[in-house]
Amino acid sequence: MKHILVAVAWPYANGPLHLGHMAGCYLPADIFARYHRLKGNRVLMVSGSDMHGTPIMVTAQQEGAKPEEVALRYHKLITSSLEEMGISFDLFTHTHTPEHEAVVHEILGRLDEAGFIEPRTTTAPYDPKAGQFLPDRYVEGTCPHCKSTGARGDQCDECGKTLDADELIDPHPKLNPDVPLEFRETEHLFFRLSAFREQLLEWLSEGKGHWKSNVLKFTRNWLEEGLEDRAITRDLEWGVPVPRDGYESKRIYVWFEAVMGYYSASRHWAQLQGEPEEWRKWWDDPEAEHRYFMAKDNIPFHTIIWPAMLLGCGMQLPHDVPANEYLLLDSAQFSKSRRHAVWIPDYLERYDSEALRYYLAAVMPEQKDANFSWEDYVTRVNTELIGNLGNLLHRVVSFAQKNFPDGLHADECALPELRDRVATAHAKMDAALAACKFKRGLAAMLELSQATNAALNAAAPWKLLKQDRAACEAQLVGFLNVCRALSIMMMPFLPRTGETAWRYLGQPGTPQAAGWEAALDGATDFTLQRPEPLFAKLDLKQVLEKEMPQDELPELKPEISFDDFKKLDIRVGTVVGVEKHPDADKLWLLDVDFGGPTRRLVTGLRGVYEADELQGRQIAVLVNLQRAKFRGVESEGMLLAAESGKLVSLLQPDQQVENGSRIH
Ligand code: MF3
Ligand code: ZN
Repeated sequence: MKHILVAVAWPYANGPLHLGHMAGCYLPADIFARYHRLKGNRVLMVSGSDMHGTPIMVTAQQEGAKPEEVALRYHKLITSSLEEMGISFDLFTHTHTPEHEAVVHEILGRLDEAGFIEPRTTTAPYDPKAGQFLPDRYVEGTCPHCKSTGARGDQCDECGKTLDADELIDPHPKLNPDVPLEFRETEHLFFRLSAFREQLLEWLSEGKGHWKSNVLKFTRNWLEEGLEDRAITRDLEWGVPVPRDGYESKRIYVWFEAVMGYYSASRHWAQLQGEPEEWRKWWDDPEAEHRYFMAKDNIPFHTIIWPAMLLGCGMQLPHDVPANEYLLLDSAQFSKSRRHAVWIPDYLERYDSEALRYYLAAVMPEQKDANFSWEDYVTRVNTELIGNLGNLLHRVVSFAQKNFPDGLHADECALPELRDRVATAHAKMDAALAACKFKRGLAAMLELSQATNAALNAAAPWKLLKQDRAACEAQLVGFLNVCRALSIMMMPFLPRTGETAWRYLGQPGTPQAAGWEAALDGATDFTLQRPEPLFAKLDLKQVLEKEMPQDELPELKPEISFDDFKKLDIRVGTVVGVEKHPDADKLWLLDVDFGGPTRRLVTGLRGVYEADELQGRQIAVLVNLQRAKFRGVESEGMLLAAESGKLVSLLQPDQQVENGSRIH
């Protein structure tokens, strides 16, 4: 039994969660935590809302409210989204608590005692018009690394580098863009980050075996570029106060205190348990494993800055930081600040949390960015989750329950290959989930249910029922055991569905209590409950109408000029001959009269139009399209037709016109 800390990035409390957050860190962390709990390990999964910092101040200003009000309101919303999505935190708190503040002061004190904190006078961005020092986020300019404009004083979203405001090219106050920025002197506390470079490099080389290569590479590059000491206080009113004379009008830099949340929340959790020392099992035991889940923009804070702080206090370092890439929406990053997102509360108003867990796990941006689309969501939910997994469970349990309402019993498994398949899939999933390869784990489960669906069709117990009831029963017990195994194996991904399926299967207790290895046990007796379908099928058209009300034509192509249009030579012609293509059963060869030499067209309309429906009809044809051969026959034009779902309909002038008439 291991102690595993599942530490998940703290969302800013300045908006609701969106699908990008879920796919980026909450879902992967939850899958991992649930998997380890099933294995019998002790998991402590913590996070909370990141209440401080300028993102909250910006939102507060926009909403005309106090930062505290805004942060608490969104904290509540975030908390309920996480609960509804089944994200199983042991504690989801926030950073504006006395418990957090006390721990922040404690860690700052420890770093100070160890000589890693020192006051320095620096110059800081100052807005002369507003008469105040500016937080980094309120400074904008051009990124010195990638030269993109709109980089902020703390980070460039384009290339991911963290920045200081004075590194920006042409910096200006975000709120007063016409005023040139000034830099004025102010005193701040600095964290001597540069002192940790060697130790961090050493630690990094230990991670080589199991870290994701992109995380490792990103971190190594950073370290190789060298580390600069960092100011850890700001001239601000909102945040954790600095326990030091002369710093009354300053606050601790949000990133510096937020990362301490992993530790403060662990201790807070222990207090709430009534076992105030219990956190030590995760933080004082070198065998405990710490895993940090986040999306890639958070990497340096978790692989460099927080580890340096941990080293400075002699605390335990992360074992792994399996950061994800981004989930994109219409190929652009989800963004709270730009309001480009599908919000979790909106989603949950209309659809099922388990379907979303399934979908996001299936497309999770583990190695590269992934794209969200409603079409893809509907397709995958309908074909994979429902058509494959849900279908297997439903048809096995409902058929068995209907025909054996008093229960089924079989001493021996009639279909031993089913057991082998379960064992193989179980081992595959086990390896994948332990290595944080969640997509692969899910795929192994779906393969099992697909193969079992095929085996069920082949065995056809419904045929056996009349001939040999006992043999049918024995087969069904084999299939029910696959369902039983699946309801355990799906628990990390689909916890509510797993429990429901377990109940339908009449199994005692919960799949959670049965544990991961119990998927390999076979049961000999099943007394089933009548199952309801586990998921509701989605209607693509309805979903699209709801989610993507069109203010523009769907899939509109880029605009072209009239000159471009004039390049198209489209004419009316009459079909004077129809022949079958000698080598292709889907193609017609049409001879078309345009008032000059007859042209031959190859078209794909065979099966849609009969020869006599085409003969003599006037059609519209693009006659200056580059000629192309179809199965050996050259086509001298392309006829125009409308496509409407499965229907294809030829264009035709609504009165007889002269052959060769132009269309424009
Ligand atoms: N609030 C930050 C963000 O949303 C993440 C903070 S993670 C923490 O990008 F560990 F620093 F809290
Ligand atoms: Zn950049």
